[in-house]
Amino acid sequence: MKLFLDTANVEHIREIQSWGILSGVTTNPTLVSREGRCMRDCLEEIVSIVDGPVSAEVLSLDTEGMIREARELASIDPKINVKIPVTPEGLAAVKALSSEGISTNMTLVFSLNQALMAAAAGATFVSPFVGRLDDVGSDGMALVRDIVSVYRNHGVGTQVIAASIRHPMHVVQAAMAGADIATIPYEVMVQMVRHPLTEAGIERFLRDYEKVRAMEAGK
Ligand code: G3P
Repeated sequence: MKLFLDTANVEHIREIQSWGILSGVTTNPTLVSREGRCMRDCLEEIVSIVDGPVSAEVLSLDTEGMIREARELASIDPKINVKIPVTPEGLAAVKALSSEGISTNMTLVFSLNQALMAAAAGATFVSPFVGRLDDVGSDGMALVRDIVSVYRNHGVGTQVIAASIRHPMHVVQAAMAGADIATIPYEVMVQMVRHPLTEAGIERFLRDYEKVRAMEAGK
């Protein structure tokens, strides 16, 4: 499963990119608004840092507006894929964009039927929102499992991005469910690499090897 970062913060993207594990970035209007910069500004910098796909979301609600915005976003860089909400207008936009060769990410997906329609429209990626389903008392990860299983049964090429990830166990469960990608907030990415036994183990190895150094120095 590929690891994407779910943020528009370029410092965080630079840091995680430096770890050598980052396959892409997803943004949304909320994440961009937190940075106090415009969408285009953010995206131009993000694509200069990241090697893989970068998702950028449209704000229009009508098909024509979505297509116009999508073309503008896609013209920033070939890595950009355009996030479009799963509505009737959004499906029509994805259909038109996929025939133009513009990569799309159908977002705000909360049901298997929405995921089926996203695939039928030709979406490159589909983003089920795990945490937001959990928030309303549904099982968000069950939706990821269902989408993966149905896409596999029917040979669907749309890639599944487990989105709205809230904690490290969501990432583990997304991987077990067979998601192609998990898009992960910075704080969760940092939690994932840390383990108290790793830290204690490093400390112990260094302490123990001090004895060898002291021995060598005393020769
Ligand atoms: O990838 C979608 C994500 O940004 C939404 O996350 O935590 O706002 O539900 P959240």
